[in-house]
Amino acid sequence: TPRVFSGIQPSGNLHLGNYLGALKRFVDWQAKDVESIYCMVDLHAITVWQDPADLKKSTRELCAGFIAAGLDPEKSILINQSQVPEHAQLAWVFNCVARMGWMQRMTQWKDKAGKNAQNASLGLFAYPALMAADILVYHATHVPVGEDQKQHLELTRDIAIKFNHDYGVNFFPETEPVIEGAATRVMSLRDGSKKMSKSDPSDASRINLTDDADAIAKKIRKAKTDPEALPSEAKGLEERPEARNLVNIYAAMAEMSVDQVLAEVGGKQFSEFKPMLADLAVAKMSPITTEMARLMENQDEIDKILARGSERARAITAPILSQTYDIIGMVRPV
Ligand code: TYM
Repeated sequence: TPRVFSGIQPSGNLHLGNYLGALKRFVDWQAKDVESIYCMVDLHAITVWQDPADLKKSTRELCAGFIAAGLDPEKSILINQSQVPEHAQLAWVFNCVARMGWMQRMTQWKDKAGKNAQNASLGLFAYPALMAADILVYHATHVPVGEDQKQHLELTRDIAIKFNHDYGVNFFPETEPVIEGAATRVMSLRDGSKKMSKSDPSDASRINLTDDADAIAKKIRKAKTDPEALPSEAKGLEERPEARNLVNIYAAMAEMSVDQVLAEVGGKQFSEFKPMLADLAVAKMSPITTEMARLMENQDEIDKILARGSERARAITAPILSQTYDIIGMVRPV
C-alpha cells in the first residue's frame, strides 16, 4: 500500500497557500485509505531563530489546524519531528551522502540565505537533507506538497539513489512528488508574481487560517486585480497573474476545475466576483478557524495526540534506521 508523508513548518500562521497546496490535499489522501504520516517540522523551523514560547504555540496550533481541517489522528499519524529522533539521526547519515554542490543549487537556500550566506545557519544549508530523512525514514512513496517543494523532492530522490549506489543496496525507494490541483502555487494577494508566504511583511498579502470572516472579506476586496472582466476560458488568464490567482483559489476551494469556474463567472467584473470569492472563502475557512480555536483550549489533548503519534511513528522509523546503520557498518547488537 502507498505510504504518504508530508510536513509543514510550525513558524508563523498557516495561510491559504499551505491550506490549499498541502493541508487540504492531506485530507483528500486520508479519504483514500492509505497509511499516512503528517509532521510539524519543528527541527526545520529552528533553521532560523524562533522564540521558544512562539514555537511551542505554533506547533500546537499547527496540530490543531491539521485536525480542524479534517485529519483524524486515529487514521493519520500526527507527529512533531523532534519527538521522533530517527528523523534527525537519518539526517546525519544523509548529510554525509549529499554533496555541497547539490545544496548550493537549491533555490530556497539561495532565496532564504540571500546575499548574506556566511551568516546563515549550517542547519539552513542542510535543510533538504533533513527533509529527505523525514520522507525516507518511513520509506514513504507519496509526498503531497505545493510547487515550491519540487526541487527538494528531486534532491530527496538523488539522495536515495546515491545512498543505494554507494552501499550497493536497493534500500531507499524513489519517492513520488504529488503536486496536484488548481492551487499548487497560491500567489500573494498584493503581487501576482510572488507566492503567498508566511514571511511576506504585508499581512494583506495572505489569508491566515486564524483570520476572522471580516479580515478575510477585507483582504479579498483589497486584492490586487486588473481592470478587465473575467474571461470565459482559461487561456484568457495567461497574461493576468492576479486574475488567474483568484480564479485558482476559487476553483480549489469550490473543488471545481478552472474551466468550470470560468463557465460560471466569465464576463463578470471583479466587483462582482470578489464578493463571491469572499463568501466562499469565509464558508470554507471559518469552520476550521473556529474548530482550531476550540482545540487550542485543551493543549494537553494536543500534546497527547502528538505523543501517541510519535509512538506509532517510531514503530516504523526505528527498524528502518536500524537497518540503515547496519548497511553502513555501525556496530550494534543484533
Ligand atoms: P512549508 O512549511 O513552507 O509549507 C508547507 C506546505 O505548504 C505548501 N505551500 C504552498 N502551496 C501553494 N501555494 C503557496 N503559496 C504555498 N506556500 C507553501 C508547501 O509547498 C508545503 O507543501 N520544507 C517544507 C516542510 C517539510 C516537508 C518535509 C514537506 C519538511 N519535511 C517532508 C514534505 C515532506 C516546508 O518548508 O514547507
